Amino acid sequence: MTTPDTADRASAPVRLRPEIVATAAYRQGKPAPADAFKLSSNENPFPPIQAVTDAIAGMTTNRYPDASAAALRARLAERYSLPAECVHTGAGSVSILAQLIQAVAAPGDEVIYAWRSFEAYPGLVTVAGATSVMVPNLPDHRHDLPAMAAAVTDRTKAVIVCTPNNPTGTIVTAREFEQFMAAVPPSVLVMLDEAYAEFVTDTDAVRGVDLLSKYPNLVVLRTFSKAYGLAALRIGYALGPSYILDAARNTAIPLSVTEPAQRAAMAALDHEAELMEQVTTLIEQRDRTWQALVDQGWDIPRPQGNFVWFPTGDFTEQAADLFMEGGIVGRALGEGIRVSIGEPESVDKLLAVSAEVVGRLPR
Ligand SMILES: Cc1ncc(COP(=O)(O)O)c(C=O)c1O
Repeated sequence: MTTPDTADRASAPVRLRPEIVATAAYRQGKPAPADAFKLSSNENPFPPIQAVTDAIAGMTTNRYPDASAAALRARLAERYSLPAECVHTGAGSVSILAQLIQAVAAPGDEVIYAWRSFEAYPGLVTVAGATSVMVPNLPDHRHDLPAMAAAVTDRTKAVIVCTPNNPTGTIVTAREFEQFMAAVPPSVLVMLDEAYAEFVTDTDAVRGVDLLSKYPNLVVLRTFSKAYGLAALRIGYALGPSYILDAARNTAIPLSVTEPAQRAAMAALDHEAELMEQVTTLIEQRDRTWQALVDQGWDIPRPQGNFVWFPTGDFTEQAADLFMEGGIVGRALGEGIRVSIGEPESVDKLLAVSAEVVGRLPR
């Protein structure tokens, strides 16, 4: 049988962009074996609420969705007291990040973000043809915002600030963020990635929506994937100045936000109280888990998302194997392991393994 594949990639006729060939494909969180918990993708562990299931049941598939997601954007605009043009929806907030980066950055341009942060950022910048400037987090795992502001050059087109930061769980305070905005030129787009905003309980944390009227270069990104439990449907949104969001709309793949996603998002907003009860449960579980881990001897940043960060350093691979053997599928990311807050039953399992791992950490 002949196949279209060519084993000899060096002599392949089509010239691919070398930086794309060299880029590692996005790695999804590992699936869990039958007796383990999949805590590798920061998903909402609760099953969908009835209102969401009802909203998408029996939907027709032969018609295209509303390309502008008008009803959902109107709903979000009302909620945030913004004009509808200042709301943009995408197939997950990650696709809006991609659109915004492409709208501002091209080859020769730089995009700054903290590292370690969301593992999708490097690929999105590379695909745009731009260059990543990664600014190391502080020893306490928080963004080093003064260093990020100092890294801005004439080539900087955008900065991504992630709060709570995936994977370290730390927040940026309102004060820190305002100082940062004062130091960054208004010609640089600032994307405030608030994918986990609903889980934040620290009252000092920045709230992007409160600052939109103050900064003409600020866009806030939110998602229905986490607190609202719609990860499978792919829907997120951005809030910000219409001149920036219009540019994002111009780079978007048309019709990529599906009708079930739009309907489910509206149903989720209509039944938000029910979903926020789930969020409250996850927050309680997160705080209880963090306290128990500290009591076990872990030095772990206080989590403000729906996950905890184990800074396991050089011991990360071994620690991830131990977690896996103990029925916890976390996400090993270089110098640490991120574990999502999952089903209540997963917490006991997690704490049993973490007690064992902490004892084995090299001191
Ligand atoms: C910080 C951060 N931003 C954005 C996203 C993307 O979310 P989605 O594309 O599902 O809306 C994630 C998902 O894990 C994330 O952790």
